[in-house]
Parts: sequence; C-alpha cells; structure tokens
Amino acid sequence: MLVYLDGHFVAREQALVSVFDHGFLYGDGIYETMRAYEGRLFLLKKHLARLKHSADAISLRLPLSLEKIGEALNESLIVNKLQDAYVRLHISRGPGDIGLDPVSCAAPTVVIVAKPFHDYPESYYEQGINVAIVKTRRNHPLALDPSIKGTNFLNNILAKIESLKAGAYEGIMLNWRGHVAEGTISNIFMIKRGILYTPNIDTGILEGVTRNFVLRIAKRKKIPVRETAILPRNLFAADECFITNTTMEIMPVTTIDRKTVGGGKPGPFTALLHHTYRKEIHACLKMQAS
Ligand code: PDD
Repeated sequence: MLVYLDGHFVAREQALVSVFDHGFLYGDGIYETMRAYEGRLFLLKKHLARLKHSADAISLRLPLSLEKIGEALNESLIVNKLQDAYVRLHISRGPGDIGLDPVSCAAPTVVIVAKPFHDYPESYYEQGINVAIVKTRRNHPLALDPSIKGTNFLNNILAKIESLKAGAYEGIMLNWRGHVAEGTISNIFMIKRGILYTPNIDTGILEGVTRNFVLRIAKRKKIPVRETAILPRNLFAADECFITNTTMEIMPVTTIDRKTVGGGKPGPFTALLHHTYRKEIHACLKMQAS
C-alpha cells in the first residue's frame, strides 16, 4: 500500500507523522471518507465541498486547492491499482508547539489512505442490523458543530463504546433536546405510511453526502420526504428504518434497543431506494467523467 503524505507516495511503514502534530495532540483536523467504484471516486465534488466547509469552520487554510486534492485522491487509486476502494483523506493542523494555538503550526499534514473496499456481510442487507439508542448525546452545535467532519471523534467514540456494550452494531445519538440525531458514523432515516423521514440539519448532524443523495433519489422516485425532528418513539413505530453512509450505502435497521421495527425485516422502500442507489452510481460516475 502506498500512502500519500504531504505530496509524496510512501510505503505504509514510512507514512509517519510528528507527535507534535496538533491532529495527534488535540484531534485538531478534518477528514473525508470516500468510496471508489470502478476506479472512480463517487460524488467527489460533494466530498470536497464538505471538506472546504469543515476547513473554513475550523479556520484551517487548505494547503492545496480542491482541484489538486482531487488529483491526489485519484492518483492514490492509480498508484495502488484500485478499482473498488475505501479512500480516507485526512488534513490535520500540522506540527507545532505544545499548546492549543494553531498559529504555531506552520503547515497542515495531508494524508490519503486508499485500500481495497471490503463489502459488508450480505446478511446485514438481507436481514438488517440492530442499533441501540445511546445515552451519550450528540455534541451541541454551539459546542462542536456536528456539520464539521472533524478528526476529533470522542463524542462518537463514547457513543460507539456504549452501543458495543449493548451488543448493537451502531449507536444512535439523540441531540440536546432528545430528538433523534444520527449514528456514530451514519445518518438515519425512517419510513412511515409511505413518507420518508430524516432528521433536519438543524437537529445538529453531519450533512451526509449519502443522506443527500438518498433524498434526491427519493424525490425522483416521488416518495414524499420530510426533513424534520424525530423522536425515539417515532423510530420505534416506523414501518421501516435504515442508516446511510459512504461505505454502507443504505443499510436496513430491523432492531432498535432489542425491539423489532417494521416487522423485523428490511422493507420495500428501503429495498427500492438501495436498488436505485446502486443503479445511479454508474450513471453518476459516467456523468462525472464527461
Ligand atoms: N462517516 N454522520 C457521521 C457522524 C459520520 O461520521 C458519517 C460518515 C455520516 C455519513 O456521512 P456520509 O454519507 O457523507 O459518509 C453521518 C464516515 C463514513 C467515516 O467516519 O468514515
């Protein structure tokens, strides 16, 4: 595996960063996880736009233009001879003095890790997964805005630890008001009487690239969509529930806190959306290339 590190491709053993990097010391950095299909990065522009949003939000000046970052990402696929891949772009504040002030960090550290994509077990899609609503609340947007895709992940890690203790595959966090927010690494959706519901951005969530793509597909398929506040009891009463992210795409949820949802089987809307999602990937990649 060749890792991109500050402009060079190096063997994984040589991909080393300073212990004085504020990313290491303080979790001061941003990242994007992308997926490549057939050697091409899916929804690359959307990921780069969100990267810029995250960079601006933490006053980090990107050391490369978005175009150059896109080139480095594509180059990572080529040098590693990858077709279906998991690609992680990481930009941390860079090495500096000990102390929070980012001014001591002369240049951000840019890392790209690209590796073969390993499919999730088919049973996850066929039978659905179990999730737990955890006690750890999603960060208040006025404390650490969840729209920033930051490398500072303790909020989500605490939620993950709780969900693991509960024997659940994913932990669902509520916001400060007790509304359903999102998973530790995913967005959440539910279907009730033919309507697709998902927490609105003001709930305090990451605006998932997959989330937005699913919303576009739903609108095209004439499925009514409501981006709104959702309560845990709405989730329990849902006809269908699923989570989304770049690597999972659309993953059905059939158990919440050990109670079955939607009859305990993935439902028809989830199947239709996922089928359409997979079909659209190829159409989108063709359009991106032209
Ligand atoms: N996680 N919410 C959170 C907190 C996330 O970390 C993620 C993505 C999402 C979904 O975003 P997207 O659809 O753009 O992948 C929602 C990625 C996959 C990760 O942590 O690697």
